[in-house]
Amino acid sequence: MSEKRVVIAIDGPAGAGKSTLAQRIADKLGFVHISTGALYRAVALWALRLGTDLTDMYRLTQLAKEARIELLPAGGRVLLNGEDVTAAIREPQVSEAASRVSLIPGVRQALLPVQRAMAEQTSVVMEGRDIGSVVFPDAQVKIFLDADPRERVRRRALELQQVAEASDADSVAIELQARDHRDRSRAEAPLVQPPDAELVDTTGRSLDEVENIILQLVRSRISNGKAAASSTADALR
Ligand code: DC
Repeated sequence: MSEKRVVIAIDGPAGAGKSTLAQRIADKLGFVHISTGALYRAVALWALRLGTDLTDMYRLTQLAKEARIELLPAGGRVLLNGEDVTAAIREPQVSEAASRVSLIPGVRQALLPVQRAMAEQTSVVMEGRDIGSVVFPDAQVKIFLDADPRERVRRRALELQQVAEASDADSVAIELQARDHRDRSRAEAPLVQPPDAELVDTTGRSLDEVENIILQLVRSRISNGKAAASSTADALR
């Protein structure tokens, strides 16, 4: 890993606040925010559109290898084979399919170099399920973001309202539980808190509070200047 660029890995279950906080931290430090879930979602969307059987490991691996997925820093837009799919990948059936597609080792293998390449040239705040454990086991900062399941359901329901998806709390709870269970129990790169990751519980805390906690952690890990680029050290002052 180059001396100059920094990887902040944020892992955790859906609804813990990863995306919002990763974006805030990235803005603060001048890093690029990368939501790796968007990669799995894009592959899942393509598979759904093609009517692919979501247990067909061979075909799904092929799709993951062939998909041209671009994550544009401006506005967090996502392109799949040149098409803007930012809104489409947020639909509930894509969330479910992404979680299923991400079980497949070949899909994960195909997306690994894509994720690593995204942090080659620039410092990143990368969020997902296995960033600190598999994608960047040598990340300078690792955070495991969690929250009480009821709070995660509430946040997820709010998120869905923003993309104009009517949903009742019960169906959101069922979706979230099924996804959590799948993400945590899969054989390949399950959602786990790596031993060297800091657990941050966002339950009952404001975004500002959690942002400050994370920035403190970042400061304690990299502000000695060894790992941080000088611009990062400046932003942390
Ligand atoms: O973070 P998200 O909700 O957008 O992720 C969607 C699904 O993608 C999630 O249920 C599991 C999968 N995923 C993964 O397996 N590994 C990652 N690093 C990110 C997401």
